[in-house]
Amino acid sequence: MRIIRLKLGLRSYDIVVGKNSIRLLGKYIKKLNLGKSAYIITNPLVKHKCFPALVRELEKTGFNFKIKTIPDTEKSKSIPVLSAVIKDLAKFDLKKRTFIIALGGGVVGDLSGLVASIYKRGIPYLQVPTTLLAQVDSAIGGKTAVDLEEGKNLIGAFYQPRLVLSDVGLLETLSLRQLRAGLAEVIKYGVIKDPRLFAYLENERKNIFSLKNSALEHIVSVSSKIKADIVQADEREERGIRTVLNFGHTLGHAIESASGFSRYAHGEAVALGMLIALEISQKMGLINSRLKARVENLIKEFGLPAVIKGVSLKGIIKSFHRDKKFRGAKNRLVLLTGLGKTKIVENVPLEIIEAAILCHCEPRAKRVAKQSKKGWQV
Ligand SMILES: NC(=O)c1ccc[n+]([C@@H]2O[C@H](COP(=O)([O-])OP(=O)(O)OC[C@H]3O[C@@H](n4cnc5c(N)ncnc54)[C@H](O)[C@@H]3O)[C@@H](O)[C@H]2O)c1
Ligand SMILES: [Zn+2]
Repeated sequence: MRIIRLKLGLRSYDIVVGKNSIRLLGKYIKKLNLGKSAYIITNPLVKHKCFPALVRELEKTGFNFKIKTIPDTEKSKSIPVLSAVIKDLAKFDLKKRTFIIALGGGVVGDLSGLVASIYKRGIPYLQVPTTLLAQVDSAIGGKTAVDLEEGKNLIGAFYQPRLVLSDVGLLETLSLRQLRAGLAEVIKYGVIKDPRLFAYLENERKNIFSLKNSALEHIVSVSSKIKADIVQADEREERGIRTVLNFGHTLGHAIESASGFSRYAHGEAVALGMLIALEISQKMGLINSRLKARVENLIKEFGLPAVIKGVSLKGIIKSFHRDKKFRGAKNRLVLLTGLGKTKIVENVPLEIIEAAILCHCEPRAKRVAKQSKKGWQV
C-alpha cells in the first residue's frame, strides 16, 4: 500500500494506492469525521463489478448509505443528470450530515465532484476510482465538470475530494480497451516528467497487461505522485505548471470532438494527440527522430491507436480552433524538448500542425489532402 499526500493546506488529502485499499474506507471516514450517511454515486456496470467490495466495508462500520446509479455514458455529465442527482440527494439528506462517494470512472467522478461542490454550497466527497484513467488522473486534483452541447467540461468547479482510494484490485474487471486508455495517461506522465517511469513501462509491459498487483501499484502510485505534485504547485492552472498535463490533450480533444466523442475513448484520443505533438516537436527541431520513434513504439506496443480514422483534417482543425485553452487568438501547445522535458509554445504555424496531423491520418485522407493542394482541403 502506498500513501501519497496531496498538500493544499486545509484542503490536503491522502491518495491511497494498493490492492484492497478499499478496506481502509471505514477507518478514513471516521478519521475525517465525515458523518454516518454516505450517498454513493455509480453506474450499473460498476455497481455490478465493484459495489460489493464497498458495501462490505460500509456495512462493517455501520454506515447508513444510499446508492444512486447514473447511466453509463459520457452523456451523464450533463445538466439534467446533475439536477436529477441533486434532487435525489436532497431527499436522502434530510436532517443528516451526508458525504458523497464517487464510485466509478472519470464520468462518475467528474459529476459527483460537481454535485458535492454546489449542493448546500459544498459537502465532502471521496473518490473511489475504478478505471485506470480515473486512478491516475481524473480522481486527483479537484477538477469537476459536466458538459454542454457547446463543449466538454464547460460547467465545473475546482473542488478537492477529502480522500482518493485507488484499489488496484478493482481494475481486474476493466476491459482491455479501458486499460489501454488509462495507460495512455501513464505514458503521458513518463513522457512529460519521468524517464524512469517511461523505461518501466517499456520493460514491464507483460506484468502490466497481466494485471500484476505490484506493477499496477507502481504505475498508479508514481502517476498519482506526479499529478499530486503538479496540482500542489498550480491547483487552478494559473501558473502555467498544470498546463504540462495537457500534453497530447489539445489535439486529442480536437480529435475526440471532431469524431463526436463516440469513436475514441479519451485515452485513445490522447495517444493520437501525443503522436501529433511529438511530430510537431520534431518538425520544430525540439526533439530528434530517435526519441519520437521510442515514444511512438511504446504507444503502438500498448495497442493504442496510431492512425486517425473516420475524422477529417478539416474537422480536427475546426475543433482545434474552438479549444477553450487558447489564449486570445493564439494557439498554445505543450511540446517536448527531451524525455521528461516540455515546453509550452504559442503560435505554432498551422502548416506544421496540419502536416503533423496528416502524418497520422489514414492513407486515404493523406491522398485526398495531397490532391487538393490549396489549404489541405480534406
Ligand atoms: N477531472 C479531471 O481532471 C479529468 C481528467 C481526465 C479525464 N476526465 C474525464 O473522465 C472521463 C473519462 O473517464 P473514464 O475513462 O474513466 O471513463 P468512464 O467513466 O466512462 O469509464 C469507462 C468505462 O469503464 C467502465 N468501468 C469503470 N470501472 C470499471 C471496472 N472496475 N470494471 C469494469 N468496467 C469499469 C465504466 O462503466 C465505463 O463503461 C471523461 O468525461 C473525461 O472528461 C476528467
Ligand atoms: Zn486526459
